Amino acid sequence: MRGIPEITGEGNMEYSEKVIEYFRNPRNMGKMEDPDGVGKVGNPVCGDVMWIYIKVEDGKIVDCKFVTFGCVAAIATSSVVTEMVKGKTVEEALQISNKAVAETLGGLPPIKMHCSLLAEQGVKATIEDYLKKKSEKKG
Ligand code: FES
Repeated sequence: MRGIPEITGEGNMEYSEKVIEYFRNPRNMGKMEDPDGVGKVGNPVCGDVMWIYIKVEDGKIVDCKFVTFGCVAAIATSSVVTEMVKGKTVEEALQISNKAVAETLGGLPPIKMHCSLLAEQGVKATIEDYLKKKSEKKG
């Protein structure tokens, strides 16, 4: 498949079929009501913003959703990372690297690797929020 023009105006970009598939049909998209943790991250250079929400039961992430205002790669990486964290413990989810996210999508153009970093940082920010809320509850 030929690359599709970037919505951010960077011209034609060669994306893997999986990236385009996740961009066109994003899994787990939308705000979560009453999450156990929520994280917001952004890239000041391109202006893209991402929210990741999690539900945790017995230390395991049982649900994960996202909202992203950003480029094709930011939407695809945030969507796939919601699938990657489900079923993992919070400790395991903290180990997910942006490289693993990109590999799951069949790779990203080198200049788009920073978009996958947003997904990694989004998960970390969400888990930090969860752990903070959890320790506050305990008092
Ligand atoms: Fe900003 Fe992709 S261009 S996250």
